[in-house]
Amino acid sequence: MTTVVVTGAAGFIGVNFVRYLIGNTSWRIIGVDSLSEASNLASLEGIDQSRFRFEKVDIRDLNALLEVSEGADAMVHLAAESHNDNSLHSPGLFIETNVVGTFNVLEVVRTLKLRLHHVSTDEVYGDFPPGSVDLFKEETPYRPSSPYSATKAASDHLVRAWVRSFKIEATISNCSNNYGPYQNVEKFIPRQITNLLLGEKAVLYGTGNNVRDWIHVNDHSSAILRILESGKLGETYLVGTSGERDNLSVVEIIMDVMGFPASHLRFIADRAGHDFRYGIDSSKMRKDLAWNPEPRDFREDISQLVEWYRENETWWRAKKTSIEEKYAREQE
Ligand code: NAD
Ligand code: DAU
Repeated sequence: MTTVVVTGAAGFIGVNFVRYLIGNTSWRIIGVDSLSEASNLASLEGIDQSRFRFEKVDIRDLNALLEVSEGADAMVHLAAESHNDNSLHSPGLFIETNVVGTFNVLEVVRTLKLRLHHVSTDEVYGDFPPGSVDLFKEETPYRPSSPYSATKAASDHLVRAWVRSFKIEATISNCSNNYGPYQNVEKFIPRQITNLLLGEKAVLYGTGNNVRDWIHVNDHSSAILRILESGKLGETYLVGTSGERDNLSVVEIIMDVMGFPASHLRFIADRAGHDFRYGIDSSKMRKDLAWNPEPRDFREDISQLVEWYRENETWWRAKKTSIEEKYAREQE
């Protein structure tokens, strides 16, 4: 039996990944999270306590992270400040958690000789312009645009330096935009669903033509598990499921599923430095690791997600007001 530390365990992907590990392995899991604004401890309710333990730890605290990780075999590093809009207003926090926090993760892994998987983003590669059909590959040069993506790029470089200089056993994955349950309502898809559930309009930045490459969070989890089990140490893997859609089309699907007319939206000022398009080539994952994501119907997934947010209003309602107040102060 393996014991794995999952940082960021009370966040969107962390919660889904912990649940995926419980269902698909016999491993023990130590979930670590500082319980920042982006987290929700209620997401971890109902998880088998015989195999899961939660520890409130801030990854900026090296000694605390070292202490809870003793006796583990591996660490999956998800904890991060993850929202681009927040990085435009509080970039310093992103440096502290995403860069200094990852440095601490690396020192813990080096000291305790743990296997590390570092979860990163396709945004480290920058973006493609309108009309492009190119895809990001593992060897695409780094060209991050926002404070968020720059700090994730820095964290990837730190991991590679620790692999080369200190021979730590680590892999990296860079994934595209995830959707699924338990996603904080500050993010695009849950923001639109919860706005509409409250009778408000959907909100699109700029023209609505920006393109994101959507992947279900369970496919991201299956990719991370596959890398942990069969990935080559020192390697980077790109994770995506060819799910490119422009933002307006995604909102139109959400509004259609929820029975709103296509006019029930408003366009606001664009995000500063807004990346235009992301697109992932995941052929290395598929060829080298025989990774096969689930067959999916995006509209059906959105339909299920709408039901999830409808049925779990207590999970998101308390945060919604403060998040929208923050958006109103910063964006309108
Ligand atoms: P999230 O914001 O929902 O969750 C991040 C979690 O990290 C939160 O629970 C938060 O409390 C925790 N955290 C933040 N600072 C911390 C600190 N100092 N110490 C301990 N915990 C801290 O983000 P997410 O969408 O679940 O993303 C998880 C990881 O996956 C991030 O590293 C992100 O860069 C990466 N990623 C996300 C996506 C996506 O589409 N969401 C895609 C690719 C990669
Ligand atoms: O590509 C992977 C990245 O995807 C992850 O690394 C990040 O952690 C994750 O937050 C996500 O980044 P994005 O900036 O792409 O996601 P976000 O949900 O913030 O926005 C998605 C798109 O929708 C983007 O083009 C901005 C736009 N948008 C967003 C919001 C919140 C809107 O048009 N309206 C909105 O209200």
